[in-house]
Amino acid sequence: MSAAEAGDAGDASMTGAATTGATTAVAAVALAEARGAAAPFSHPLLRTATPGAWIALACGSPDILLIDHANCEKKAASTALSLMFAYAEDLELTDKMSRLAREELRHYEQVAKLMKSLRVVPQRLAPGRYAERLRRLVAKTEPEREVDLMVCGAFIEARSCERFAALAPAIGGSAGALFQGLHDAEARHYRVYLDLARRAAARNGIDLAARVKEFAVREAELITGPDAVFRFHSGVPGLL
Ligand SMILES: [Fe+2]
Ligand SMILES: [Fe+2]
Repeated sequence: MSAAEAGDAGDASMTGAATTGATTAVAAVALAEARGAAAPFSHPLLRTATPGAWIALACGSPDILLIDHANCEKKAASTALSLMFAYAEDLELTDKMSRLAREELRHYEQVAKLMKSLRVVPQRLAPGRYAERLRRLVAKTEPEREVDLMVCGAFIEARSCERFAALAPAIGGSAGALFQGLHDAEARHYRVYLDLARRAAARNGIDLAARVKEFAVREAELITGPDAVFRFHSGVPGLL
């Protein structure tokens, strides 16, 4: 079943927002722990897997999860459009960002459709700290700035991909089907950003590995550190 079809079908187990409740949360932690125990975490960019406590909270907070996820898709499209303006003379970059922006908006439409079918009431949510803290590492001047913006984009997409893979089996139902469907796209997106980072770094003699390392360390801190607010990219809940 495609993600869109899953959204059409709806799912009684998710209707009424946080009806997944404590049982699902406990099961999610067990699943995440089993996942971690089964295979050590290995990823080309990310240094750490999503903590089981975050997965449990996400399964118990489907409304906030979906509302913030919808915001992330809009923001991903908006970032791609901003990069098209920032590097307008680069036709390879603008073409890739144009495609990416359109795809992110289609993702937004899928999430919005699922929210409607689950009767999730839209609300204004302040963004979490994740993207803003990562962007603090971005150089202010070129040519370093272009490399950093691409590396930053790669990490955000890679973490989205990793979270979708972790969430899909844990949350199940129509939301799980949607997340499973989005997983492949986000894997493709992080590679698009990483290829653009490689290209910009090679063109300007910048040490890409050093930039990736700095972002990887900060990213892992944000994912494993305590976080007062639950969002799609937040850290470990309830430790503040
Ligand atoms: Fe997306
Ligand atoms: Fe994406």
